Amino acid sequence: MAQNLTRKILEKHLVKGELTPGSEIGIRIDQTLTQDATGTMAYLQFEAMGVSRVRTELSVSYVDHNTLQMGFRNPDDHRYLRTVAAKYGIIFSPPGTGICHQLHLENFAKPGKTLIGSDSHTPTAGGVGSLAMGAGGLSVALAMGGEAYFLPCPKVVRVWLDGELQGWASAKDIILHLLGELTVKGGVGKVFEYAGPGVATLTVPERATITNMGAELGATTSIFPSDEQTRMFLRSMGRENDFVELLADEGAAYEEEIRIDLNVLEPLAAAPHMPDRRVRIKDLAGMKVEQSCIGSCTNSSYADLKTVALLLKGKRIKPETDLLIAPGSKQVLKMLSSEGLIDPLLDSGARLLEAACGPCIGMGGSPVSGGVSVRTFNRNFEGRSATKDAQVYLVSPATAAMIALCGEFSDPAGWGTPPAKPELPEQAPDIRHLFIYPPEDGSKVEILRGPNIAPLPPFESMPARIEAPVAIKVGDDITTDHILPAGAEITALRSNIPAISKHIFGRVDEGFVGRIQTAGKGVIIGGENYGQGSSREHAALGPRYLGVKAVIVKSLARIHRANLVNFGILPLLLTNKDDYAKFTLGVSVTIPADEITPGGTVELTLDTGERIAVGNDLTAQELAIIKAGGLLNTVGRPAGS
Ligand code: F3S
Repeated sequence: MAQNLTRKILEKHLVKGELTPGSEIGIRIDQTLTQDATGTMAYLQFEAMGVSRVRTELSVSYVDHNTLQMGFRNPDDHRYLRTVAAKYGIIFSPPGTGICHQLHLENFAKPGKTLIGSDSHTPTAGGVGSLAMGAGGLSVALAMGGEAYFLPCPKVVRVWLDGELQGWASAKDIILHLLGELTVKGGVGKVFEYAGPGVATLTVPERATITNMGAELGATTSIFPSDEQTRMFLRSMGRENDFVELLADEGAAYEEEIRIDLNVLEPLAAAPHMPDRRVRIKDLAGMKVEQSCIGSCTNSSYADLKTVALLLKGKRIKPETDLLIAPGSKQVLKMLSSEGLIDPLLDSGARLLEAACGPCIGMGGSPVSGGVSVRTFNRNFEGRSATKDAQVYLVSPATAAMIALCGEFSDPAGWGTPPAKPELPEQAPDIRHLFIYPPEDGSKVEILRGPNIAPLPPFESMPARIEAPVAIKVGDDITTDHILPAGAEITALRSNIPAISKHIFGRVDEGFVGRIQTAGKGVIIGGENYGQGSSREHAALGPRYLGVKAVIVKSLARIHRANLVNFGILPLLLTNKDDYAKFTLGVSVTIPADEITPGGTVELTLDTGERIAVGNDLTAQELAIIKAGGLLNTVGRPAGS
């Protein structure tokens, strides 16, 4: 039978279930990645499993989020990550080497392999034909231990690309266009598989920009075929041996299809505060811009930054506009440097930052109060920049550079001729000697922990009947940034659950933590797409530690749902969405937890006497995990933790 690309990879890795959309499947995972903000917890969980060595083909631990070392916490965590990697057979990427997804694409991602990462933009590796998914840290820990990764079998959407990008339009505009069409909820339960004649016109870094930001659609992942472009990319990276051709079969079936004519796309932005608020750049002309940031795992490749350097060459940015540039990796920096392209950046007045996530995770580079910031990043949620009233627009690197030169949005028709698309060198500089490879035998390695590393708290199993007050009621599209904000101060506490939990919902409702601590327990009421955004499992772990028993919502985002299950919080779905109005802060909710069955419906009772039907989309295995108090309780935990 003719197969699409996604199905081919899934079939090859299937260990449990059937490839019927919506039904639960288990797949074998070839590669894992972690970044430091989620990695410390993932490795604490891996240690708790008692496995002596990772069982994947390749696992890499990157440090790219919390690279600032202004106190003991981040360096302590980096040392823990380095030593735990050496002990268990994991490659370690030290701070400053680059952003996890950019580095993984350049150095390790392979066509046809499965990859899960404790970061929601892991689908970046779909640019070379990997089936790459963001997952909670615990799922990554389990995959490192050789366990299957469980997910609902996705629908496969064929995104048919016709034509070729013209003028100032870029790969970023393809994904911003798609987000405008489908919204941040449009990809839930789906893999976006790119096909059509337009695919061959896109380089791997351009493809990776698109698959990276497919995460903003809520998609399971996005993937491009592995073709001549892939071969050229891997050759340039010194990895032609990793190339295999991987195409969908002629006549393969797809559940859905979307068509995009690349010829007619124009420069776009996502307006504050959602990545799907698509607007044309020319329609924003005249708006003053105080800051332009170029970088992040979406747009920090050699081609992106070379385009920027060529645009800035011999010019000076406007004095009122701050321009920050963070390259994706040291390899990108070395390529720019060998071509004399660092000078044009520096001479333009831009600030060159470390090769790391930087301003994307609020690690410096915050905009001025009430300022407009254009960013080549993938998220513009309110407060993510660490300036609550900043207005963040997501744009392409060329647009960000032109705006820095103009000091405001302007019509691209007046920008002149865009620079030619940069081509990768035949042989890019190799930076693989900068990774720290684990010894063959890690048994003698001592894991070094500082005071910031707190053991995981124990979690009790689910009671037969839950009685808890509504501790918070939130609206639609609540992101994991709302639940637990990013930023240097808070993320430095990521390996200390009691400490980080004090910040849960801190920017949404300052009374939440006090309320739930007084009651000792609570439930969360949410609207549509609750928990969208990053894979941050602390957004489930923190509430669990504080005593949250259930999240009762209209709908849930995929990774957050998995994190709730993994940490033993019941995710319940309102059968009638209008019942949302019946919940008020403090009202006591009684849930007959022992009557819940996979996919079944139960009635909750409020102390007002109201009875409300709720369903779930849990599998039998997921329900068993929740009843046990979380996944870690089912795989063991070392003495004393
Ligand atoms: Fe880092 Fe931002 Fe990507 S935090 S991994 S650059 S989304």
